[in-house]
Amino acid sequence: MKGIDYKVDVFTGIRPTQGLTIANVIGSVHTIVTLQREKEAGRPMVFVADLHSLTDGTPQDTQKHILDIVKDYIALGLDPKGCDIFVQSQLIEEIAELNIYLSRLVTISELLRVPTLKEKIKKDMDVSNASVLLAMYPIMMASDILLQKSKYVPVGDDQVAHVEIARDLARKFNKIFGETIPVPNVLSLGKPARIKSLSGGGKMSKSNPTGAIVLDDDISISLSKIKRAQTAFAGEMTDSLDSLLKIGKFVSNTEEIRHIDEIMVKHMNGENVMGELKGVINTSLERYLREFQVKKSKILDTEIEEVIKNGGEVAKRNAKETIQEIRKAMGLKYI
Ligand code: AMP
Ligand code: TRP
Repeated sequence: MKGIDYKVDVFTGIRPTQGLTIANVIGSVHTIVTLQREKEAGRPMVFVADLHSLTDGTPQDTQKHILDIVKDYIALGLDPKGCDIFVQSQLIEEIAELNIYLSRLVTISELLRVPTLKEKIKKDMDVSNASVLLAMYPIMMASDILLQKSKYVPVGDDQVAHVEIARDLARKFNKIFGETIPVPNVLSLGKPARIKSLSGGGKMSKSNPTGAIVLDDDISISLSKIKRAQTAFAGEMTDSLDSLLKIGKFVSNTEEIRHIDEIMVKHMNGENVMGELKGVINTSLERYLREFQVKKSKILDTEIEEVIKNGGEVAKRNAKETIQEIRKAMGLKYI
């Protein structure tokens, strides 16, 4: 079998949501930043999935949040010089075109079996109000991945099934039309750490602001939420305390982590030290949030526009080449 070269080593998409929480950082953003820093997996390409977000936001909001999310990632450590960043809709023609070709290779019942869609249909909607775009979510994701001839796609557990569909579609296409698209690989990141809401209940989420540390909030608000956070009785361990510790250790330096560990030994020995623990965590958190906010405030819209323009050119070039090869393989003569 003729080998087909990959074009991009590490490829992933982020959704343009506004108001990231510390849980989003620990569970998701941190991974791509670490992958880039470790340089083991090659140069990443990261894009803002604004077309995918059309399924759950208004187009106006989606567009408003694009620059903001790119600034968040850069302020959280993504180095724009060491990766290519673009916006999905910059490739609208190529994505729309590949969506048509790939849709031909999937049946309606296969789409309805995709676990994420199945769950959504069970929870918030049914087939009478779920849009076709929602059902096409994994096809569009495959178009994103395959247009760039991506080698590794780092995703959390919930997205693995979607990348499997992209693999499947690449194989099906190659089988019918000849070796054209290299098969991508899931870079499985396992289940992300689940951070609980500080006020109890479910997971930390910006839709439940009383229990969430939102990075852009006034810092004093976040510190007071830590002060009020649920913990555990002396000598006991709870999920709430575990989440608080994960947050505390994430924002702390080595010295502070050691201090947290010492306090926890006292706690497990039955001492009342939760106030002390929160004090240490708040010192680290205050520094972390301040550094983030200062860094973010210094990033100009024009800088991001420039980054997106350059990244978009790389992604467009790749996508155009791939689509030409795909048309040729399919024998489409009149485009
Ligand atoms: P969402 O904003 O819920 O779409 O989540 C965006 C990313 O952040 C996903 O990769 C989630 O897995 C991650 N994430 C969201 N909430 C949490 C949480 N409470 N704990 C850990 N990771 C989270
Ligand atoms: N669906 C992904 C999410 O919800 C975002 C995404 C869109 C993506 N296209 C992608 C991720 C391609 C990886 C590769 O988080």
